[in-house]
Amino acid sequence: MAQISTLPKVKRHLVTSALPYANGPLHIGHIAGAYLPADTYVRYLRLRGEEVLFVCGSDEHGAAITIRAKKEGISPKQIVDKYHELNKDSFTEFGIDFDIYHRTSSELHHKVAAEFFTDLESKGAFEKKVSKQYFDKEHNQFLADRYITGTCPKCGHDKAYGDQCENCGSSLNPEELIDPISTLSGATPVLKETTHWYLPMGKEEDWIREWIANGNYKGHHHHDPALWKKQVVGQCLSWIDGKLGDRAITRDLEWGVKVPLEGAEGKVLYVWLDAPIGYISATRQWALENGKEWEPYWQDGDTSLIHFIGKDNIVFHCLIFPIILKLKGDYILPQNVPANEFLNLEGKKLSTSRNWAVWLNDYLKEFPGKQDELRYVLTSIAPEFRDSEFTWKDYQARVNNELVAILGNFVNRCLVLTDKYFEGVVPPSAVLSKAEKAVFEEVHNNIASIEESIEAFHLRDGLISVMNIARTGNKYLAEKEPWKLIKENKEQTAIVLNTALQISAILCSVMEPFMPHASIRLRAMLNIPPLEWDQLIKELPLKAGHQLGEASLLFQKVEDAVIEKQIEALQIRSTEQKETNTNQKPKYVDFETFSQMDLRVATVVAAEKPEGSKKLLKLEIDLGGEKRIVMSGIAEYYSPDEVVGRQVTVLSNLAPRKIMGIKSQGMILMAEDDKGKLVFVEPSEKIVAGAKIS
Ligand code: 2FM
Ligand code: ZN
Repeated sequence: MAQISTLPKVKRHLVTSALPYANGPLHIGHIAGAYLPADTYVRYLRLRGEEVLFVCGSDEHGAAITIRAKKEGISPKQIVDKYHELNKDSFTEFGIDFDIYHRTSSELHHKVAAEFFTDLESKGAFEKKVSKQYFDKEHNQFLADRYITGTCPKCGHDKAYGDQCENCGSSLNPEELIDPISTLSGATPVLKETTHWYLPMGKEEDWIREWIANGNYKGHHHHDPALWKKQVVGQCLSWIDGKLGDRAITRDLEWGVKVPLEGAEGKVLYVWLDAPIGYISATRQWALENGKEWEPYWQDGDTSLIHFIGKDNIVFHCLIFPIILKLKGDYILPQNVPANEFLNLEGKKLSTSRNWAVWLNDYLKEFPGKQDELRYVLTSIAPEFRDSEFTWKDYQARVNNELVAILGNFVNRCLVLTDKYFEGVVPPSAVLSKAEKAVFEEVHNNIASIEESIEAFHLRDGLISVMNIARTGNKYLAEKEPWKLIKENKEQTAIVLNTALQISAILCSVMEPFMPHASIRLRAMLNIPPLEWDQLIKELPLKAGHQLGEASLLFQKVEDAVIEKQIEALQIRSTEQKETNTNQKPKYVDFETFSQMDLRVATVVAAEKPEGSKKLLKLEIDLGGEKRIVMSGIAEYYSPDEVVGRQVTVLSNLAPRKIMGIKSQGMILMAEDDKGKLVFVEPSEKIVAGAKIS
């Protein structure tokens, strides 16, 4: 059981989570990738009494922002203000406990990033080159990064961006894309001359290979690469082997950190140069606000720096940013970069543009007080070594069969039985017998496994060991049957409940990194202060005679209807999005396309609200010669009674589709008012059902 801690023996820890773009809300894929694991790790370090700083913030530059602003018809500043606040609040509510949530649009960040650039430039770290780059004539703009898409030369993915392929994670230059297309106009771009600064990464190849492969840096053993994930090391080495070229680190754009040099008007730093520097400016802002020094966190070798990211960010955190830090001099490099794979949703890739996602802010609104249910599920299925999958049915099963049935049930039984037999006071435990000793040994072994797992960033395993402690407790209660024992032997019952309560108190501590909200609830029920991790194995946490608090259910069952509603909402959102996406594509349709649409006037003959749906009405419509069923998302605006007898317009040859198990044949056309309310489009006078509209 004696376990050798793999925690780096350092004075302090600096933990970062990838700065999310402030161009939209966060979804469960982001959370499972870079935020929840970091928060769990940080909470564990804090419980162990380590000094930790946990920084994050919004990534507010780059095409991700400007493209979104254009889409929403507002300025980039309005976009980042909106999503910075939204995401910051969601993180807080979800219990992601950053010491600071900074932003890269801040003055301090612009200053820090610009200083980095000027300093490196004056050291001769960059090369200035004139080259031909893709340009959109219609929009009078150079196309970099997300302004250009094409086929990835490495994996063949057809939606690779100009700087990066999110499918295989490669970092690209726009010239490498096959069949490039401007995302502004949809046209094939032309080439035009422009000047930019480049980072010649090839020059750094030797030391960075040595650092990635063997952990050596500046002549000493910096970290043990065996503790890094194989995929991370493998990906980096394959990039290094594939030759590190020159990478442009400036862009012809208005939005971003201005290139701080004469003659560089209209140019900004590449977002991926300034974003990781955001970790440094966040640290500096935190230090300013708290009267602390920032330098030890970035410049003292006695700091362990850990970057939590998703796999699409590996190249930036393991190669480009370390190169920048090394060239700057006096900066430490990361101790580890535990990058996660991707999370899928209900069998498909998560996608913002297709609205195929579970959004964190929606979840928090719809499941108030149930942060830890989602935390539990996302850690249980964390994509640590391969892509994994979230489904609502699995969410329900894990909450009901694990959180409620194993963990919740165990602590509830301990508390309720103690209440009943010992007036809610921890009963005395005489000398421990073999059975209790064995139980405690099992619990202690699990604590050791939790430590080992978290320190190795295997949080799924860590959580399994937490649950194993609850399982051990349940098994012990089932064997001892205190509810029977009480009739014969109160003293023995006291020992059993004392033991079970000690296990509950231990659970309360070890679950904290994973489920901090439930841990607080349990702590109130046990009426105990926070326990120190290192004491958990050394002594029993509860003294006989301690008055417990009030028992209540730690977790509640998730009902079928709740899950069905989520699945339906997901389908509806994504169908609506599909329609918007298709609507947005062409500027004009030709007459031919229009005439393919069979638009008709129909009379609604019957309407009902299908069970379990808030939005839908099931309508039976008369199309003259024919009656049909059409599902329509109007239930929030019309009751079934209000629609029967009305004449409506219908796209009658829309491909039939199944909605909530019912085949819907056609679509009722609705007009949307300025508040988002839907109203019918009716003929100006009564007309025969089935009349054609053209
Ligand atoms: O991929 C992303 O969402 C980026 N905004 C992550 C940036 S991480 C860091 F470097 F700031
Ligand atoms: Zn690719």
